[in-house]
Amino acid sequence: MDESTVTLAPDAGGIARAAALLCAGRLVAFPTETVYGLGADARDDRAVAGIYAAKGRPAFNPLIVHVADAGAAGEIAAFPPEAGALAAAFWPGPLTLVLPLRPVAGISKLVTAGLSSVALRVPAHPVARALLAAFGGPVAAPSANPSGRISPTTAAHVRDGLGGRIAAVVDGGPTPVGLESTIVGLDGGRPVLLRPGGVAGEEIARTLGQPLHRPDRPAQPTSPGQLASHYAPRGRVRLEATAARPGEVMLGFGAVDGVLNLSPSGDLTEAAANLFAMLHRLDDAGAEAICVAPIPRAGLGLAINDRLARAAAPRDLSGQ
Ligand code: TXA
Ligand code: MG
Repeated sequence: MDESTVTLAPDAGGIARAAALLCAGRLVAFPTETVYGLGADARDDRAVAGIYAAKGRPAFNPLIVHVADAGAAGEIAAFPPEAGALAAAFWPGPLTLVLPLRPVAGISKLVTAGLSSVALRVPAHPVARALLAAFGGPVAAPSANPSGRISPTTAAHVRDGLGGRIAAVVDGGPTPVGLESTIVGLDGGRPVLLRPGGVAGEEIARTLGQPLHRPDRPAQPTSPGQLASHYAPRGRVRLEATAARPGEVMLGFGAVDGVLNLSPSGDLTEAAANLFAMLHRLDDAGAEAICVAPIPRAGLGLAINDRLARAAAPRDLSGQ
């Protein structure tokens, strides 16, 4: 479909226009504190189908529903006590909870891919919050990138990947966290870490007073964000590198420096915020081979290593 993509300012006029487009069943990209999301009315099958079409996304991959507050979330899913505790501690913020779906909520089956659970998140970004308030309903939003490619942390990334395929993007500047939300499932009250992300797993375990479990059947992921090759730049990626080999450009961390450095001071929060933007820059510069310095595997380092491992994985799914 040939559609020109409007860039909207994050002011009252831009938000009103974005909300009106969502009401009309159109696709609008908007900033969250993690990455830009590609939003559609979560109750509108045609609009949600448009997300899959614009992204070229495998149809079995369910979407996160964004809502304004925990009250709105409670209308869509049942909240066991553990979920209530996590919502109270981390919402609004970069945590997604996978909970039993209330069928009466009217969420499109394309959002949940027919599962009996639904992924819910209350974002903290002021532009996302203003849009959810103006729209007044649940917004399904995956990251606003073509399927398999690096997630967008600026409106320019969104336009580069999806320009001409979506109605609008609200430009709220670079996203502060820079990595997707942490996804936690509560299977009969048993907390399972489905995807590491913007909230460190250690903090979640501390809030719950119990450890987070790993998914039982990693071979049959209930969270297909676990697809092996994902978040991929076009060039090859080599990890745990201490120096560039001929033909490689180096992405540094701490004292292991490169043409770009995720955080010269070795700060994991800064590195998370820079990760996708720097991969985009190397990708845009035409890097054919990228090597990345070692990143410690604690706190946000877990999510960073998770995304890097997918960027480095063999391209069994062509990213197109
Ligand atoms: O930070 C984020 O989470 C961003 C922003 C835009 O909110 N969104 C995001 O969405 O990363 P997406 O669609 O790229 O990733 C959603 C993940 C996928 O791995 C999907 O499989 C999983 O959530 N998911 C969604 N519903 C699920 C469910 N019912 N059970 C298990 N996993 C689910
Ligand atoms: Mg994504």
